[in-house]
Amino acid sequence: MNALFPAPIELSGQASEPSGTLVRRRLPLLGGGGGLQRKLIAAAPSATPSKAPPPPRSVRVSVTDRCDFACTYCRPSHRDGYVDGRLQLGVWRNMFEGLKKAGVRRVRLTGGEPLIHPEIVAIVRELSQLGFEDIALTTNASQLAHLAKPLFEAGLHRINISIDTLDPKRFEEVTRGGNLTKVLAGVDAALEAGFAPIKLNTVVLRGVNDDEIESILLWAWERRMLPRFLEVMPIAEGAKLVREHLVPVAEMRVRLAPHLVSDEARVDPGLGPAKYVASRRDPSLRVGFISGTSDTYCDTCDRLRVSSQGVLRPCLATDDGVDASAEAIGGDLHGITRRIAEAWTKKPDGEVWKGCTEETAAHVSMRAIGG
Ligand code: GTP
Ligand code: 5AD
Ligand code: SF4
Repeated sequence: MNALFPAPIELSGQASEPSGTLVRRRLPLLGGGGGLQRKLIAAAPSATPSKAPPPPRSVRVSVTDRCDFACTYCRPSHRDGYVDGRLQLGVWRNMFEGLKKAGVRRVRLTGGEPLIHPEIVAIVRELSQLGFEDIALTTNASQLAHLAKPLFEAGLHRINISIDTLDPKRFEEVTRGGNLTKVLAGVDAALEAGFAPIKLNTVVLRGVNDDEIESILLWAWERRMLPRFLEVMPIAEGAKLVREHLVPVAEMRVRLAPHLVSDEARVDPGLGPAKYVASRRDPSLRVGFISGTSDTYCDTCDRLRVSSQGVLRPCLATDDGVDASAEAIGGDLHGITRRIAEAWTKKPDGEVWKGCTEETAAHVSMRAIGG
């Protein structure tokens, strides 16, 4: 049986990782560390593999590389090319069973835009039936108005929504055609369906939307949502924007200071890389910051990624991966767990590896790997 079925789309136009030697550098994009500090760490097209088991507990699954938006920091246009197939539902079921067997407890569905996948509700149902501890999804919310309730009923626990601006014209520009009204209807539907708290992801770009961080914070808090502000990362198209448009988290924090307690921001243990601070007025409200550029967090990363074609990817910042699609298609659960162990040994050494500030990151498709 061929579980990869063709789709009527362009050939892949994805940039691939440059072959040959890898170098690493210390956050040169902020001018720190005395510019590029090149050091040879590997002669093969992979990062230094040193992180041994324990196995991954947390997995991000990109169910499709397609997206209806083309955010300026993510992809160059709507025509940058998609991969030409995706896994069928039964194959995903096998993959999820293999992940569960390997010790994975938390699954986040991403894309591209995961709600574009025609079987997204059934995919959530499969995860729910397998009893994962945490089933989450990250979306641009363009399809959420009609999908929020079915997703909640299928067993989705948590939802993160990306919105960079509350100005309709700007929204259209940043997303290259996105409709803010539809997205806001999606937010309302998610609140009505019972998701709580909903996290809001806003990538802050100097001169584009940085004048809105306070209004977005208050807008989210009014709805008891959890706003999070992200530094633009030098991954994919973001690499072209960092120098001019990066707003470091430290600066965001200063700008929002009147609304926040002065405590140090802290991670929620076991969850993603965001660090949170409470509201000065209402300690039950918080804001999060994600500093993928001014600071990286590879040393605490326990994530594995699965691509829409069944490739297990140990890191967001390289195209390295181990293909587990044959095992998933064949329902070979032991084979999948072997592939997972293999992929995990390729996880870069978080002490030297600087994730999205590594040069390889600029050549990765954020849309395909799912953030
Ligand atoms: P929570 O479990 O709700 O905290 O989710 P999350 O923050 O992990 O998920 P989300 O999909 O909302 O991701 C928010 C941002 O964090 C995105 O820009 C991701 O690209 C970034 N991010 C998530 N995981 C990683 C990672 O392993 N490395 C880096 N550098 N960035 C990441
Ligand atoms: N830098 C920072 N965040 C990015 N995202 C996509 N590309 C980048 C980038 N270059 C964010 C999206 C979404 C999340 C999954 O990743 O805005 O919130
Ligand atoms: Fe924007 Fe996410 Fe689509 Fe990239 S994948 S274009 S960040 S909505």
